[in-house]
Amino acid sequence: MNKLRLGINVDHVATVRNARGGEHPDPVRAALAAARAGADGITAHLREDRRHIRDDDIYRLKQECALPLNLEMAATDEMLAIALKVKPHASCIVPERRAELTTEGGLDVVKGLTTLKPYIATLSAAGIRVSLFIDPEPAQIEAAKQAGAPVVELHTGAYCHASGDAQAQELRRIIRAAEAAGALGIECHAGHGLSFANVIPVASIPSIVELNIGHFLMGEALFIGLPAAIREMRMRMDSARQGGNA
Ligand code: PXP
Repeated sequence: MNKLRLGINVDHVATVRNARGGEHPDPVRAALAAARAGADGITAHLREDRRHIRDDDIYRLKQECALPLNLEMAATDEMLAIALKVKPHASCIVPERRAELTTEGGLDVVKGLTTLKPYIATLSAAGIRVSLFIDPEPAQIEAAKQAGAPVVELHTGAYCHASGDAQAQELRRIIRAAEAAGALGIECHAGHGLSFANVIPVASIPSIVELNIGHFLMGEALFIGLPAAIREMRMRMDSARQGGNA
């Protein structure tokens, strides 16, 4: 089966840094440690309110870390200008609401099609691979295709926060959405809320080629260290890919 890439989201290293101001802990140092531990990419979300990642983090991640950088951003002119300057490997367009604690749901591409289209076209023309962070809904995938996005990232939050039958149902939604994306020739990623306990069923879906994981790994790093947490996640993902269930 094809390899599953692991993108490490370093936002919450910056959350801890910003709790006291200053420079420690440094998200770029975390990105370098993630690279050594076997990550395939680094993800960082530059929010409008700069609550965690700051502009200079993005420039430094691009300059100092050799892994492909995935810039998560809202579809705004400010973020577009930054993306065109930084030229990350990829941009993942996410919805952003000021009061939310995290990205609570996917983009409504169906409603936002005409707004999103020019952002996707401009980023793509600059050689930046665009993904749209969406809920695992067939209508959103079809709209992503119409919008010209080569990649979607499926929001796994509902699956991660559910349990029992409800979780099994959420997993089926993700499987169907991943298959629908594959059928339309759209590359499929997934992320949000993934942990050691819930990653394996998602990692077993063959048409998903990349997972982006942050909060759980940063929390686990407090107890076992970031490299060990990343290696354990990698091991579970690889084992799922090979049909095992570590
Ligand atoms: N992918 C996207 C698009 C996200 O917005 C986030 C959260 O910032 C993640 C993945 C990672 O989610 P988590 O931090 O819950 O692992």
